[in-house]
Amino acid sequence: MQKVGVIPGDGIGPEVVREARKVLDVACERCGASIDFEEFPLGAAHYLRTGEVLADETVSRLGEKHAILLGAMGDPRVRPGVLEKGVLLRLRFHFDQYINLRPVQLFEGVPGPLAGRDRKVDMTFVRENTEDFYVGLGGRVGRGRSRTDLDLVRRAYEAKFDVGIDLRDEDELAFQIGVVTKGGADRVVDFAFGLAKEKGLRLVTSVDKANVLTEVYGLWREAVERASKRHGMDREFLYVDAVALHMVRSPERFGVLVTPNLFGDILTDLGAALQGGLGFAPSGNINPGGVSMFEPVHGSAPDIAGKGLANPVGAILSSALMMKALGHPEAAKDMERAVRDVLAGGRHMTADIGGGASTSAVGDAVASRLRSM
Ligand code: NAD
Ligand code: IPM
Ligand code: MN
Repeated sequence: MQKVGVIPGDGIGPEVVREARKVLDVACERCGASIDFEEFPLGAAHYLRTGEVLADETVSRLGEKHAILLGAMGDPRVRPGVLEKGVLLRLRFHFDQYINLRPVQLFEGVPGPLAGRDRKVDMTFVRENTEDFYVGLGGRVGRGRSRTDLDLVRRAYEAKFDVGIDLRDEDELAFQIGVVTKGGADRVVDFAFGLAKEKGLRLVTSVDKANVLTEVYGLWREAVERASKRHGMDREFLYVDAVALHMVRSPERFGVLVTPNLFGDILTDLGAALQGGLGFAPSGNINPGGVSMFEPVHGSAPDIAGKGLANPVGAILSSALMMKALGHPEAAKDMERAVRDVLAGGRHMTADIGGGASTSAVGDAVASRLRSM
């Protein structure tokens, strides 16, 4: 018996997770996997009722699971960051899910923005998931803070840059720093090369901004260089701004990309757009030796929540990634094929891509296609 913790979360989270569960039930039946699903009611409602974001005890109960399936976190009634950092990022960091795997594929039948241009979209982002500007190191100085703090920052700034900083006494300043460690970069870059090899590719694209953020991404590049030699494979270094351009102009040039955390976040929303929309994009927060967590790339989409409009495909494909990680690769493949078949059929599309089908109608169609395979 395998154990999965399910966190439906906020907004459309519960709506899309319900559909993923439908498809998972059929997948388990077909492959004989026995999985016990336990729901954890985390998110805005829980926080507003109890004042608690995520109890330590809940974290340790999640730690006993073989995997976690999550919908989305974030609610307009709660200050930005409270739930996103307090639940999502805390779990990614706590379980050391250092790989954020985000495949980007445009499926037949889906009217992507590049439709008619005959462009192949099939790339995989390996996003570093526990470092960079996500480490939460930073602070604010100024209003309501001590003069000493302000003077300290002023002196540090001047010593480093040899220029003055225009900070009047009543001014305010905020800073947040990015961190890349050798070990942190090595392990995720190594995974990316391994994945590229598995896919029969010879090249990994590394994304950074080493022309400006020379310290952190200088170290990042050294890790890519080392892994390229170790694996006997090629690497290319591209700046993040250029990657954004190439993704739109010639997406077919990309196979496996490895990116620091923040750039990976941004580029995978662009990737989702190439797939036809955020509703199509799956992801896995992976610790190969620990508890991994699977979730669609999109957020809680408060603008469409509760209306049955959400596209559940990203959540269903995330649960397929989970089945693969749980040791059921055939089931995962079949789930993905069922999604492909339904999309190619063209009858079961949600409103985000111009269709009229509801969230549950798409889930039903995928589940029944899978059952009939
Ligand atoms: P979002 O991804 O929720 O929505 C962006 C746009 O895409 C919206 O117009 C939305 O309607 C649309 N969209 C998203 N998912 C869709 C789907 N499955 N089907 C159809 N349309 C879909 O991003 P946002 O609006 O910037 O953020 C809303 C909240 O979600 C915020 O609190 C944010 O912090 C949070 N968030 C959470 C996650 C996560 O839990 N992994 C990811 C991103 C944002
Ligand atoms: C994502 C989200 C999260 C991130 C936020 C909600 C913390 O945007 O999963 O892409 O930035 O990683
Ligand atoms: Mn994001």
